[in-house]
Amino acid sequence: MPTRFPDGFLWGTAASAYQFEGGNTSSDWWAWEQQPGRILNGDRSGLACDWWRHAEADFDLMVALHQNALRLSVEWGRLEPEEGRWDRPAEERYLEMLRGLRDRGIEPLVTLNHFTLPRWVAERGGWLWDGIVPAFGAFAGRFARAAGRAASGGAPLVDFWITINEPVGHLISAYILGRFAPGRAGLAAFTRALVRSVQAHAVAYHAVHEAQPAARVGLAAYLRPAVPANPRSPLDRWVARRLDHIVNWMYLDALATGRLAGPFGVRFRVPQASGTMDFLGVNYYTRSRVAFDLRRPGHLFVRDEPPSGAVISDGGYSEIYPDGLLAVLGAVRRYGLPVYITENGLPDADDDLRPGFIVEHLRRVAQAVDEGCPVRGYYHWSLVDNFEWADGWSLRFGLYALDPATQVRTARPSAALYGEISRSNALP
Ligand code: FCB
Repeated sequence: MPTRFPDGFLWGTAASAYQFEGGNTSSDWWAWEQQPGRILNGDRSGLACDWWRHAEADFDLMVALHQNALRLSVEWGRLEPEEGRWDRPAEERYLEMLRGLRDRGIEPLVTLNHFTLPRWVAERGGWLWDGIVPAFGAFAGRFARAAGRAASGGAPLVDFWITINEPVGHLISAYILGRFAPGRAGLAAFTRALVRSVQAHAVAYHAVHEAQPAARVGLAAYLRPAVPANPRSPLDRWVARRLDHIVNWMYLDALATGRLAGPFGVRFRVPQASGTMDFLGVNYYTRSRVAFDLRRPGHLFVRDEPPSGAVISDGGYSEIYPDGLLAVLGAVRRYGLPVYITENGLPDADDDLRPGFIVEHLRRVAQAVDEGCPVRGYYHWSLVDNFEWADGWSLRFGLYALDPATQVRTARPSAALYGEISRSNALP
């Protein structure tokens, strides 16, 4: 018997504006890219996947793969390139893209913040600036109103939203590890940014609902189970527990309860955030097997130790570990929310691991559904190779290979496999 998915299951891919559109010159990452040493091999996002001009050509590829969903984001710096100046042509282009999706029977899920900020926000302090909270709320409300007005057949163009992508992972990469803009600033700055982020999520959640009372609004959380390298070592167990709390649960618990239990026991009340998830987006890539390491205070005393014999994807990116997705889907049932897998994928230029990766992860999704986890959709990261942040073009996540110089796409074998799964709503 084939493994079937529930009726109405969403099958799609995930993307982000900065990684796909090209030419996002008003964003903080554009300036960050120009600094020497920030991006592997000195790569540049450049035209990226050229979506700002030609996204529709890739929407046609999605139709050929029987997709009924796309997760994409809008670039705040494009819509509001200077404080208070709204760019109408940019808004119109986004609405045109969203209409293009609707016309093709593809349901858009729109992320309002996927790692980047307008340059003017970054110059005022980015996530450390108090003003980011109202500014992000105003931006979110304004775009939600525009997408609500531009109805298609009576329904809003978009009524399915993610406020912020992977807030914790992003702030760790930026403020603690220094791999992302604006660069390392330490744990105290991280904690301040974290509180702003929770407040900004809450403000955006309420602003979108004010614009569209029937909207579904959630968060895309990077969830990565943490296990001790040596289960008999109390220090390894301690570091795994602490990492699990910081990376996986502290932010989501704050959105459930209005109380944020930050790193090292600091606590904040954020009552406006309580109950601000209509669904949960799960981004799952891998697990962490960790040891305590006194020499790594800058990495929260964590040393990653993948098990010997683990299968690792390109560039040492991550251990392939499908059971971790099952564990995550079991753990999130505590929130009692509908769940979407909003990202899952791997860098694999020659596509020798991806087909097995897709099937094995989807097998765990089907099992989780059987066990009562309300998973409603799956978005593979990603349709085409794209600009992978600090790793530039070195990591190839696409079902389609992309040559960024010529913009030529070439299907990898996984594309047909994923298309067939989407068409049949079942695993082969
Ligand atoms: C996720 C990010 C996404 C992409 C994938 C590979 O953490 O959300 O933008 O970079 O990793």
